[in-house]
Amino acid sequence: MPEQVRTAVVTGAGRGIGESISRRLAADGFSVIATDVDEATAAATGEAIGGVGRRLDVKDPDDVAAFAADVERCDVLVNNAGVWRFTPLLGTSPDDFRHVMETNVLGTLLCTQALAPIMARGGGGSIVNLTSLTARAITPFVGVYSASKAAIIALTIQTALELASDGIRANAVGPGFIPTPGTLDTYGADEETQRARGKIVPLGRYGTSAEVADAVAWFASHESRYVTGQVLFVDGGVSEATVPFLFQAQSR
Ligand SMILES: NC(=O)c1ccc[n+]([C@@H]2O[C@H](COP(=O)([O-])OP(=O)(O)OC[C@H]3O[C@@H](n4cnc5c(N)ncnc54)[C@H](O)[C@@H]3O)[C@@H](O)[C@H]2O)c1
Repeated sequence: MPEQVRTAVVTGAGRGIGESISRRLAADGFSVIATDVDEATAAATGEAIGGVGRRLDVKDPDDVAAFAADVERCDVLVNNAGVWRFTPLLGTSPDDFRHVMETNVLGTLLCTQALAPIMARGGGGSIVNLTSLTARAITPFVGVYSASKAAIIALTIQTALELASDGIRANAVGPGFIPTPGTLDTYGADEETQRARGKIVPLGRYGTSAEVADAVAWFASHESRYVTGQVLFVDGGVSEATVPFLFQAQSR
């Protein structure tokens, strides 16, 4: 009997890191369901990788339930959809809080709740959540973005512990400075600016979406079968950079 093709669901797959993850998982042989709140970009990613694209707003419980009702098999779930609003804490409104927390944290929870039972029915699988460098190196003036990404680490570990008996692993990947359509304002839109700013990273440059996708692909694969509840920072070493290191790095 031919081996069953494994299915991966990726959220926020219309652009940036989610698009790269979808591309990489498709190259690894997964049948990928690329989802995004933006229907057109989800469709474009789905078409580009030979998978399917679906509109899915991860923070909408009805949307998530309706989406999951159409999913027959799910071996890998990548909770990648994420948003941020950079404000000082004292200027962060309840609307800012809800927007960031509902997309990043509630969205991760809802997709896990909806798809984990499907995964369990198929014998298990792997959930990969996107956290961030900023969950570990807490950053000022990012509103509740750091808090949301720290919450995702706690959710990941709890997911790993509660779902291990269903054969489901859960791990998190924490990107560092990765230029994407969503971060160009922060990291600089042109290559020269990015090159100059990237010197502060221990490995000497900003990272790429493909490098984040490589780590996600490992957590999605059989190679990581004995790994659960872990966080892997894909940040060129920034999360380990000490103040003396940063002083030195400024002059290189
Ligand atoms: N780029 C970085 O430097 C960086 C660093 C750390 C963590 N991350 C995390 O990686 C993930 C991807 O980041 P990116 O830089 O590719 O962002 P991006 O803004 O380029 O892309 C995010 C995608 O998520 C989609 N999205 C937003 N809200 C959604 C919702 N409610 N439902 C479904 N989809 C939704 C957007 O439409 C977009 O296609 C995020 O979780 C982000 O927090 C990124």
